[in-house]
Amino acid sequence: MDVEITVVAGARPNFMKVAPILSALKRRRESGCPINHRLVHTGQHSSTMMSDTFFEQLGIPSPDVNLNVSGGSHARQTAEIMMAFEADLEKNPTDLVIVVGDINSTMAATIVAKKLCIPVAHVEGGLRSGDMTMPEEINRKVTDSIADFFFTTSKNASENLIREGIGEERVFFVGNTMIDSLLINLDKLERPRLWNDLNLKERGYLLLTLHRPANVDSPALLNRILEVVSRSAGSFPVIFPVHPRTQKSMEEMSTTGTNIFRVDPMGYLEFIYLLKNSKGVITDSGGITEEATVLDIPCVTARTTTERPETVEVGTNVLLGSKIDSLPGYISEMIAGTWRKASIPELWDGNAADRIADAIVGLWESGRIGRGNSSA
Ligand code: UD1
Repeated sequence: MDVEITVVAGARPNFMKVAPILSALKRRRESGCPINHRLVHTGQHSSTMMSDTFFEQLGIPSPDVNLNVSGGSHARQTAEIMMAFEADLEKNPTDLVIVVGDINSTMAATIVAKKLCIPVAHVEGGLRSGDMTMPEEINRKVTDSIADFFFTTSKNASENLIREGIGEERVFFVGNTMIDSLLINLDKLERPRLWNDLNLKERGYLLLTLHRPANVDSPALLNRILEVVSRSAGSFPVIFPVHPRTQKSMEEMSTTGTNIFRVDPMGYLEFIYLLKNSKGVITDSGGITEEATVLDIPCVTARTTTERPETVEVGTNVLLGSKIDSLPGYISEMIAGTWRKASIPELWDGNAADRIADAIVGLWESGRIGRGNSSA
């Protein structure tokens, strides 16, 4: 009997993670493994620039189903995804649900699958910031407390899971599927139109992204961060692709420094082009700290914690903490080119999705998934 796998994706950072997994599963199928997969898009991110462009650029096949749940409070969004995904799974018998990352869709899909006694594999399991004010930390902990199998990006993440009582036989250290996407697309990057419009030069600008509620939901704090960045960057232009959540706060702000160029959210190939050629990035995104590390681009994270310690320990990332006054010093170092060199974390080599597919085949061969086995 074939193994039926449902892969779930919902928001922008999920798309880079599922793309290589879907390709690896397809290759296993083509080489004779009896594995079928389908893709469910929850709809959490729905606009062209936050979703469709990523499907197109990353070569992700159209989802088999779109649950069309977007916006709303956390409770409403989570509940609506759960209701819609439950109905979907009831129509489509599944032997394994694969969830990725730490967004509301990840947690919602996991709870639904487990209550239907369907095993769940969590890609990027085990990350812990220790900061329970982050919705993502709640999503990670709830997901990991009930999922069955864990594909981790670092030994540290595997250790977190084992410390929490998860048996080693359920934890697979495979590397980072976001880096699979990065490496496979490096020769396809696209120079964005604004490059010429703003007369940008290689290593002649900084990049800024902010979307975490802690940084952007208060227009006063967001304004303060933008002021400090603008002052510290001096004559360096700062390119600021504005996330929809951030846009809401920006609407209440009068001006930003004249060297900060606000632009719409960008496609993947354009954003990575800008990151790769920048002098440095200031961000509150976890994924960008990983990409900056692999591209050896200086990175300051505007947060007090990180769930990705390897980006600080061996990568290019520093945590700003609560001291926004340290930002000018970091920006000066970026501009002066005196940032420390990074090394690449273990197994961030572009082959994580293949390791995941191999592990799934192994789970099937040993009878831990499929063959009517609905509990791990
Ligand atoms: C979500 C994830 C976060 C991830 C981020 C990446 C959770 C808890 N958070 O945060 O981990 O880093 O995505 O972008 O799941 N919106 C649009 N169009 C879109 C997408 C969003 O207008 O295509 C609006 C939503 O309607 C909402 C706001 O932007 O009002 C925030 O979106 P939401 O998905 O709730 O959370 P994010 O802040 O994007």
